[in-house]
This record gives sequence, structure tokens and C-alpha cells, in this order.
Amino acid sequence: FTVKANEIQAEVAPTMWGVFFEDINLGADGGIYAELVKNRSFEFKTPMMGWKEEKRGGAEGTLLVHNRGAAQLGNPRFLRVAVKSDQGEYGLSNEGFRGMGVKKGDKYNFYVLARQLSDAKIGLVVELVDQKGERIGTATVTPEGKDWKEYKATITATATDPKAQLLVLAKGRGEVDLDMISLFPEKTWKNRPKGMRPDMVQLLADMKPGFFRFPGGCIVEGRTLDERFQWKKTIGPIETRELTVNRWNTEFGHRLTPDYFQSFGLGFFEYFQLAEDMGAEPLPILNCGMACQFNTAEVVPMAQLDTYIQDALDLIEFANGSVETPWGKKRAEMGHPEPFNMKYIGVGNEQWGEQYVERYKAFAKVLTEKHPEIQLITTTGPFPDGKEFDYLNTTLRSMKDARVDIIDEHYYRAPEWFRENATRYDSYDRNGPKIFAGEYASQTVAIASPDNKNNWNGAMSEAAFMTGLERNAGVVVMASYAPLFAHIEGWQWTPDMIWVDNLRSFGTPNYQVQKLFSTNSGTHVVPVLRNNKPVTGQDGTYASATIDKATNELILKIVNTSDRPQQGEFVVDGVKKLQQKGTVTVLQSDNLNQENTFENPDAISPKQQQIQVKDKKIKLPMKPYSVNVVRVKM
Ligand code: AHR
Repeated sequence: FTVKANEIQAEVAPTMWGVFFEDINLGADGGIYAELVKNRSFEFKTPMMGWKEEKRGGAEGTLLVHNRGAAQLGNPRFLRVAVKSDQGEYGLSNEGFRGMGVKKGDKYNFYVLARQLSDAKIGLVVELVDQKGERIGTATVTPEGKDWKEYKATITATATDPKAQLLVLAKGRGEVDLDMISLFPEKTWKNRPKGMRPDMVQLLADMKPGFFRFPGGCIVEGRTLDERFQWKKTIGPIETRELTVNRWNTEFGHRLTPDYFQSFGLGFFEYFQLAEDMGAEPLPILNCGMACQFNTAEVVPMAQLDTYIQDALDLIEFANGSVETPWGKKRAEMGHPEPFNMKYIGVGNEQWGEQYVERYKAFAKVLTEKHPEIQLITTTGPFPDGKEFDYLNTTLRSMKDARVDIIDEHYYRAPEWFRENATRYDSYDRNGPKIFAGEYASQTVAIASPDNKNNWNGAMSEAAFMTGLERNAGVVVMASYAPLFAHIEGWQWTPDMIWVDNLRSFGTPNYQVQKLFSTNSGTHVVPVLRNNKPVTGQDGTYASATIDKATNELILKIVNTSDRPQQGEFVVDGVKKLQQKGTVTVLQSDNLNQENTFENPDAISPKQQQIQVKDKKIKLPMKPYSVNVVRVKM
């Protein structure tokens, strides 16, 4: 192998390796959003879904859901608890999202909006119970007065249980109204009250992602336009955020999730905040006036597209505008007077055809006039076989009458496809729009098959392909694996990058590959050649090389997909010196079917060791089926 360290081919965009977030597989509610109560405001299609009546000590009473309708659009329903006996306790329990994960010694904050209707005060007993029904934590709350007010109580769990439940019981004859019944762990990401699960965010932050794409995916589009993602409904006080059925609800033919709705506790403000926390560029994708074309193909008439375009303009103001502007003021009211400095907007997800082109052009015209500083991301049309989303197949790549900055390609393909397509971008037009490899993942059985595995074969093949993305950093400016999260008891799609249950989370081998690339990105691509040719599969090897101008290092990524060890010798040209010691970080398994699991989360995880460098030559023994990243100071 030869590395030509002084022949810079392209800059590696700081956004190169990023994260794609979608509320699929219980990614948000029941996932990263740490709320433990399911259907906290009774707004699910079936108002009492997740709740059950509870009576203790001979108590009697009734539970009745009231609906305020248009008078309270964001949150029309609340629950009236009428206790009709003097003895005992009467109320309800919540099952959580496949139970509630609680840990011994940890604190849990209970919140409720409540008002007393009777003069006699009704007290609330709040309990955590384990799977056997034993109490593992308790607190009390006494609502005061006839106006709605938020109350808080803290419960300390006395035992660990991944499937605890919450009981809310009223004591004393009379009536009390309850809404937004909520339980959050006190330990959240950055200890923000009512915040995110810290273990899940930490896994993302550890990747040091260059961008954070949200909120999807198909979820942007909705099955119908009414059910599309509308960012304005996801900001402001959480009790005013209007719930929507999730595009991935079982009702739409998916698995395991009849109870999948979006509470939007994780809304656009929180997405921007997460991006900022991770030092990632925020990358929102907006609905372009089209519902999911795989469902209804519903579109908004061109004459009514203005509302959608206005949503984009208002989003720019929300993210970047001064606090004097109406939307900038809302951001400030939520606690972030400084702008979020958003630089990108995606117009639509997986859309195609004339309808998309005319809608995109209308967006591009207005956004170019009013916000030339915002880079626009367009979606592509599918491959001829109808499955993937492909730049070469879109009219947008050569469009002259509208600005097209970055095109979003998606590919869910077999592991072999990833290895065979490491050269995919070698022939792309260097002067055309840039590429966002916005969703990709090896499908080990078939696209979105429930039997797909996050195994080493898939992950290693993605690594081989990613060397091709990096070699072509002059064209490819962003890339992200998809989907991101999956709950082991509530998923619709495999494979996924990070798996969780109610208490645990782990990165798959695919996660380890993504992290290895994004934490070793470098700033500029330089050639690495094998017998004078780019390394794109010769003897099963794939390679890319960058230098990092900030740290003055050479970074090599070499994937050996063959079943044999190979001895690599890298002759580094074009450097004055190379330090004698470097490091190599290796992901490897002899078993292509190897996966990481809750029990063995580190089966495939990085192992680092020192390597010797002599006379500007790096000797690298490469194990079979290995991904190797070498760093050497120049
Ligand atoms: O990542 C899962 C889905 O795959 C996304 O929602 C969609 O964009 C693609 O079809």
C-alpha cells in the first residue's frame, strides 16, 4: 500500500459522520424521552390505554374521561376520579411502556396537573410497585383548590425492576380532576427535569456526531397529511403539545406497537438542544406537502403549499431569529435566547416524481430569496427496482431552475451490495449537488425483514462501503446509519444501531463501526493505493486515508473482509517525518454472525494497541474480518 500524504484530494466536511433520529421502534416515547407513564394525558385514541382501575380496602368510585374539545386543543382530555366511599383508596395504575424501568436507590419525580372539586380535600397516594405487586416506593400529594395546578412528589425506589408500575390512588370521599400524570427519573441527560434517558444520549454523544438529523424518516411525512409531523405542535409547554398517532403504530400494519403515539415531549426545541449538547449541526427534515408515497400518496394542492413553506420560514426564525421576532421569542421563552445556528433544512423525505419536483421548486424559490444562507437538502426517487433512493435516478441532480445543494440518498441493501458499492461515488459529478447518505444499513436477510441481524458481516460490509464515502468526501458531505434506536419489546424494523430495554442499552457492531469512523474522521482526504489503485476490494481489502490538520496526524482506515490474515505494509510518501509509534484500533470477529447483546454488549468492541513505524513505513498485520484504524503523528 502507498499513502500520498501530501496530495490532498478533498476536505472532509465536519458534518461527514452524523446521526439520524426517528421515532420508530419506540425511539422517542418509551425510549430516549425518559417519561415512564404511557398516555399521561389520556389523549391516545383509546383514552384509557395503558391505565387500569385500582381499588384497595373496600373503596368504591368511578373514573371518567372528560373532553374539552376545541376549548383546549393541545390537550382536550382529563380524568375525573370520583371516590364514593370513606374507606380505602381508589384510583388507577399505569403499565408504562412495556413496564417502567426503575433502579434501587434512584429517585423518581411524580408530576400531576390536578384540581379539587369537592370542599373536602382528596389526597393522592402515589406508589411504585414491582412485578409481584409489592410496593417499592411511595409518596403523597394533596392538591389544593379548584384551579388546575402542577404538583410534584419524589419517590425513591427501594428495589430494581425493569417492569414496575405506577399507582395513583385517591383517599377520601369526593372528586378530583387529574391530567398529565407523569413520572420521570431524576437522573436524566444533563439532569434536565423531564428530560432524556442519559444512557441513550451518551451513546450518541460518544460518537461525536457531525450532525443530528430529526425527526425522521417516514414520520415526517405521515400516513396522511393530517398525521404528518408539524414542528409547531411540538414546542411550548408540554401539556399544550398536541398528540399524534405514530406512523409506525401497529394500526398501519407494523409490529408490536398498537400503543404507539407521539406525545412530543421530545419536540423540536429538545431536538435542537440535543444537537447542541453533542456539538452536532441540527438537521431538521420538513414535510414538503406530501404524505408518505408508500401509503396514500396524498398531496396538498400547490395553491395551499404556502402554509408548509411558511413552516420552514418560521422554523428558521425559531432556530436562528433574534428574541425580538415572534418565533425567536418562543425559543427564548423555552430557555434558549441564543440562536441554534441552524444551517440546513431537508425538504421532504423519500419523495419523488413531478409532484415532488414542483413542490421542492416552490420551497427552494422562497428559501433562496429569503434565506440563501440555509443549505437545502432534497430527497431522491427510488431505484428502478422501487426500493432505494438514488441520486442517479433523480431529475434534481441536473436541475437548472432551482437550487439543489445536497441530495439525500437512502439504501437498505444486502451486505454484499455494500462491499460491491465502495466505488459508488467515484464517478459522481464533482460539480453537481453534494450527497447526503441519509439512511443506510446492511439488511442481512431482506429489507426491513424482522429476521435481519445486527451482525458482524453487516457491520464490516458497511465499514468497507464507508471507506468509499470517505474517499469521496469531495462529493459526500454527510452520512448516517438508520434506524437509530430500537426497544427490544417494541420494534417495527431491523436492523437498528442501538438496542435498549427499560434499563439497559448497547451499541451493535454497526454502532461500533459508525463510532470508529466518526471519532477518527480527519480533516482532509489523501490517496491510499494498492498497486497504484484505490483500495476497493482487492483481496477483500478496502481503505481510505485522511490527515488531521488540527492534530497533525495521518489516519488510515483499512477493512480486511477476507477470511485470511493479511500483512499490510503502508509506505507513506510526502511527509517529512512520521513518529515511530502510532496506534491501531481494531474491530474484529472470526464469526461473521457475531452480534452484541444485552448479556454480552462488548462482544464486538474496539481494541487498541501500539504499532511501530519505521522509515515512514507502517507494518500492519490485519486479522481476518477486521476493521482497522491507524493513527500516527506526522
Ligand atoms: O429507517 C426506517 C425508514 O426507512 C425511514 O422512516 C424511511 O425514511 C425509510 O424508508
